[in-house]
Amino acid sequence: MLGEFVTRGESATLPARGRQRQEHLLDFDADTVRSSYNMRPFVLQHHLAEHPDFFSLPALFSLCRRMPRDQVQYRVGAIPGDANFDTSYARYGEGLSFDQVLDRFEESRAYICIYNPERDPLYRPVLEGMLAEIAAAIEGMDPVITWYSTYVFVSTRDSVTPYHMDREMNFLLQVLGEKQVMLWDPHDEEIMSEADKDRLLAAFESRRPVYRPDFEAKAMRYDLRPGLGVHHPFIAPHRVHTGSDLSISLAFTFRTRTSDRWTRAHAFNHLLRRCGLSPWAIDHGHPLADRAKAAASQAVQVPIDLLQSRRRARALAS
Ligand SMILES: [Fe+2]
Repeated sequence: MLGEFVTRGESATLPARGRQRQEHLLDFDADTVRSSYNMRPFVLQHHLAEHPDFFSLPALFSLCRRMPRDQVQYRVGAIPGDANFDTSYARYGEGLSFDQVLDRFEESRAYICIYNPERDPLYRPVLEGMLAEIAAAIEGMDPVITWYSTYVFVSTRDSVTPYHMDREMNFLLQVLGEKQVMLWDPHDEEIMSEADKDRLLAAFESRRPVYRPDFEAKAMRYDLRPGLGVHHPFIAPHRVHTGSDLSISLAFTFRTRTSDRWTRAHAFNHLLRRCGLSPWAIDHGHPLADRAKAAASQAVQVPIDLLQSRRRARALAS
């Protein structure tokens, strides 16, 4: 499984570690986090670009070459914005070897995703420090982080990460170049129905809700440049376009005890729908009801770790 689980004991120490750090990589505005975290996207500032030993192109290509090959995925050429996200690496990755992609990166209009740099001994302390900073920032609203997973995206001009949604929260941080991030409200029934969300969270193999052109009018656009990032609330749909230059960004995705509970509750609802029932929607504002469904989900043996045991071999992103 991708990513790193965080034990309850480790999670309990994170906020204090985040607050004690001498040099912060992430700048959170406490009022913004309090009013918007997991409700709506918000912009934050960060300092990753000030650390070229980790986040410059040469440093990241070195990381690519020492990572296990299956943890670096790539696409080449022009990708349409409505391409199937889950099959895009296979469909648009053919024709060039990995070494050819690195050597001819810009001319092949390549896009590289480095999975889980936290597994690299050099990067792990940096990313664990960021995890602690996130834990400190959200402690008042969402105090128990249970899992995290990071991804570095290196892309040439005009690349597109097709419309999709991930099954967790994310801070997408721009390090080099520009990105246009389009986000949609996951609570909008016209964007994703309750049944869509229940199916999405019932299993990682399940089909993601698809894009329709009439969604475009509801897109929330964020223009990222180096030093800026944007928060993706839980399962918020998104599509990402790079600008006219090389782009480097880091996605810091994570789950919490709360989002795990939502996932289990949606999974339970999906089970009820498959039995022909019409369950109440999962209301993220009513933790008692969600907690009951999450408990029921566990009782019928559909725990999150089993449902998600073959967690995406392909992609995330953005
Ligand atoms: Fe994504």
